[in-house]
Amino acid sequence: MQGYIQKAETLIEALPYIREFAGKTVVIKYGGAAMRDESRIASFAEDIVLLQFVGIRPVIVHGGGPQIDRLLERLSIPTERRAGLRVTTPEAMEVVEMVLGGTVNKQITALINRFGGRAIGLSGKDASLIRARRYDLPGPDGKPLDLGEVGLVESVDATVISTLEAGGFMPVIAPIGVGDNGEAYNINGDTAAAGIAGALKAEKFILLTDVPGVLDGEKKLISTMTRTAAHAAIADGTISGGMIPKVECGLEALAGGVHKVHIIDGRVPHSVLLEIFTDAGIGTEITRA
Ligand SMILES: Nc1ncnc2c1ncn2[C@@H]1O[C@H](COP(=O)(O)OP(=O)(O)OP(=O)(O)O)[C@@H](O)[C@H]1O
Ligand SMILES: [Mg+2]
Repeated sequence: MQGYIQKAETLIEALPYIREFAGKTVVIKYGGAAMRDESRIASFAEDIVLLQFVGIRPVIVHGGGPQIDRLLERLSIPTERRAGLRVTTPEAMEVVEMVLGGTVNKQITALINRFGGRAIGLSGKDASLIRARRYDLPGPDGKPLDLGEVGLVESVDATVISTLEAGGFMPVIAPIGVGDNGEAYNINGDTAAAGIAGALKAEKFILLTDVPGVLDGEKKLISTMTRTAAHAAIADGTISGGMIPKVECGLEALAGGVHKVHIIDGRVPHSVLLEIFTDAGIGTEITRA
């Protein structure tokens, strides 16, 4: 009996958070690195379905770096990264689109639906949800790094998402953008998610990855990170690789009107629920000031 009462108490503890977030949009970036096996994705999907049933509106944007790497390797297509972003040749772009818009997107969507959610998988090309242009990232010498078909978000059509939400559907979005001539762009998942979170003025933007959060020089978790600290940590190399776009996107989302941004460990079971329904304060919160 005691056990059951404890369970009821746990549910009641979530009540203030359910009340606060019911009807609100929470954008969740699900990183490729945190979704290595099917059982982990299944556990994530269950959490998301719970959110949907308590009236929260999750919007999922996923990555798929490791999954793309695997297929590129099988096809013997060489790949390299610059500043945490994949240099994308037209040949690699075909694979990126197949893996992100196909395999990964449908795997997440199917699992959410299996647990009783109502998810629709789409890429940024569908209904021109994400309009994009080529990303000419300047290198250390000021000249643009040639990243190939890598894109930046130009605009997000929020009506596509609100229409789905109004019908009770949860969008699961692959980070592919569409250019003026219908061409596809490979957009970093964090960048696409930040654009979407900004366009929706999301209540929360949660980035799930495969580390506990942003780590300092001694590999200890930084629980709150300001804009100034983030720029300093990128400049001195404490933050590198895939964590660079993540932190920059968090700051950009805040500037775009998102209320709260958290980078959390997607390997921890139920990390999304812990973030939303408890005061435990897991991971790193990115703050404006
Ligand atoms: N200071 C830091 N703190 C934490 N992680 C860092 C730091 N600097 C670099 N990283 C790296 O950033 C990685 C996370 O970014 P990565 O792009 O690899 O994953 P993801 O964005 O979750 O997945 P995907 O890109 O497939 O969507 C970590 O695994 C870690 O190796
Ligand atoms: Mg990444």
